This record gives sequence, C-alpha cells and structure tokens, in this order.
Amino acid sequence: MTAAATDIDLSVPLGRLRLPNPVLVASGTFGYAREMAPFVDLARLGGILPKTVTRQPRQGNAPWRTIETPAGMLNSIGLDNDGVDAFAANHLPYLATVGCPIIVSIAGRDEAEFVEMAAMLGEQPGVAAIELNISCPNVSGGIDFGTNASSCESLVKACRSATPAPILAKLTPNVTSIAEVAKGAEAGGADAISLINTVQGMAIDWRRRRPMLGNVIGGLSGPAIKPIALRCVYQVAQAVKTPLVGIGGIATIDDVMEFLVAGASAVQLGTVNFYNPTAAATVLDALPKALADVDATCVADVVGTLQISPRD
Ligand SMILES: Cc1cc2nc3c(=O)[nH]c(=O)nc-3n(C[C@H](O)[C@H](O)[C@H](O)COP(=O)(O)O)c2cc1C
Repeated sequence: MTAAATDIDLSVPLGRLRLPNPVLVASGTFGYAREMAPFVDLARLGGILPKTVTRQPRQGNAPWRTIETPAGMLNSIGLDNDGVDAFAANHLPYLATVGCPIIVSIAGRDEAEFVEMAAMLGEQPGVAAIELNISCPNVSGGIDFGTNASSCESLVKACRSATPAPILAKLTPNVTSIAEVAKGAEAGGADAISLINTVQGMAIDWRRRRPMLGNVIGGLSGPAIKPIALRCVYQVAQAVKTPLVGIGGIATIDDVMEFLVAGASAVQLGTVNFYNPTAAATVLDALPKALADVDATCVADVVGTLQISPRD
C-alpha cells in the first residue's frame, strides 16, 4: 500500500539542527533573500543560505565574473560582500523575519577569523546554524581548510567550541578524496557536511586569446556538475555517519530524490535560482508525492537507500 502524500513527515534532523523540510537554497545564488521574496514564499523553504560573509568587506574579483556554459555556468565572484558587521546590521534583521531557518555562510582568511565570526553570528537572533565555506575556489585562504582533513578537523572543532550554534562544513570537490576531508569535518564535530561547492573550470575567447573570466579560473555549477555532486555524496555517505546536504545541479524533484537516495538528508538548490527562481517551491510541491511513491513516510526512509547489488 502506498503512503498517502498528506501523511509524509518532511522534517529532517541535521545533528542539532532540525529543518522543517529538506529543500534549502544555496549560498551565493539567492542573494540575501529579499531579492527573491517576490518569487518565492520564503517561509516554506527548509532553509536559506545567504551569500558568504567575510570578516572585512571584499570587492571580489575583476570582471567578467560569470559566463554561461553548456548546462551550467562559470563564476569567479571572489566573495564580494560588505563584511560581517554590515551583514549583521543590514541583512540579518530582515532574514530573521522570513520564517524559515537561516544558515549563515562564513569564510575566514584564517582560523581566527572563522572563529570570531562563528562566535559573533552564533549569538545573533534568527541564526539557526553556521555553514563554514571552506570550499570557495575563487579566493585564496579559506579553501585550504577544505583540502586537508586535519586542518578541516581543527577548524570545525575550533568553531564548534566558539558557538552553541550548529555547524555545517561545506566541502570542495576539487580534491583527490572528498571522503577524507569529510572524515576531518566529522572528527571536528560538524553537525552536517554540505557538498559540493563549484568545480574548477575555465572558458577561453580563442580569437582574442584571452580567458573569459577576469580571474582566469572559476567555478562550474548547474546541471553540468550534478553527476560529480552525486558521486561525492555517495562516496562521503560511505565514509561518515554525519548527515549530508547535497548541492550541485539540483533543479527538479527527480534530482532531489536522487541525492536523497545517494545519502543526502537535505539538499540546496543553487544555479537553478538564476534561471527558474520558483524551482524550490515547485520541488517542495512535488516532494510529498515523490516520497509516497516509494512508500516512504518520512525523508529519512529514503536517505542512503541506494542499492548497488544485487540488481532487481
Ligand atoms: C554566482 C555564484 C555564487 C556563489 N557564491 C557562493 C558563496 O558565496 N558561498 C558558497 O558557499 N557557495 C557559493 N556558490 C556555490 C553554490 O552555493 C553551490 O555550492 C554551487 O553552485 C553548486 O550548486 P549548483 O550547481 O546548484 O549551483 C556560488 C555559486 C554561484 C553560481
């Protein structure tokens, strides 16, 4: 007998964080949410990750910063933002009113900056959790924590002890073994591991013999990277028990279900917000029926249920 779509429990635990549903929107692709309010009922979302904030304001990289590619886009924004103080003064008060969990994304140049921002933001009203962006390919510094298991462990541990807020560690696919880095995040006490950030790539104008991006190299996102992201979620799910948040080319309900089956407890929609801002709402509408179709009564019934063999 198929479970009734109306009886499905959509809530998901991510360590100490409980989300009303598993459909979130990814950092850097949803502005500070105000911009998206005309298109999406923000209160319905499982969570919003505003653009990554840094300790000091950053101008970001030289233009061009985005290029469309087949089935995706390249970006090299370079963490353009006004700094954490301006974020707390200008964006957090609005974010705290939208009615869904706000997971603040931070990037420090070193451990001390991460810890300082985690401590400060963890105390702010309206902050449900903190995501450590240790995976931005377009800046030097913070990404080093995402390419090495022991520095990842030490950073997560330091941030955990600086704040009672739940901590998510967002990993880069631009490493030899993402599972090894994930083990570091788990050992450091991350409540959840988000994966993946963008995949390093570039675009060239051959007539001018110039790179298209001002920063030469950027990060590829969108449907083009979904198979890479699925592979990363699958590999990390085999290596750790920490809940995972899948990111990478997710645009449809089928994409969401694939990531849950691969081992993600929740997902973040990113690039799709640029070309279909209502995608998260559409996916949410379809989620109860998709879960019911496979006889699930809650999201956890599907998470990590991939069967490798025997085939049926
Ligand atoms: C224009 C742009 C800006 C981004 N900025 C950030 C950012 O500030 N912090 C972050 O953690 N990820 C950032 N990302 C990465 C996304 O959050 C996401 O991890 C990645 O794009 C893969 O998901 P997608 O294929 O659904 O876009 C950005 C992505 C894009 C396309």
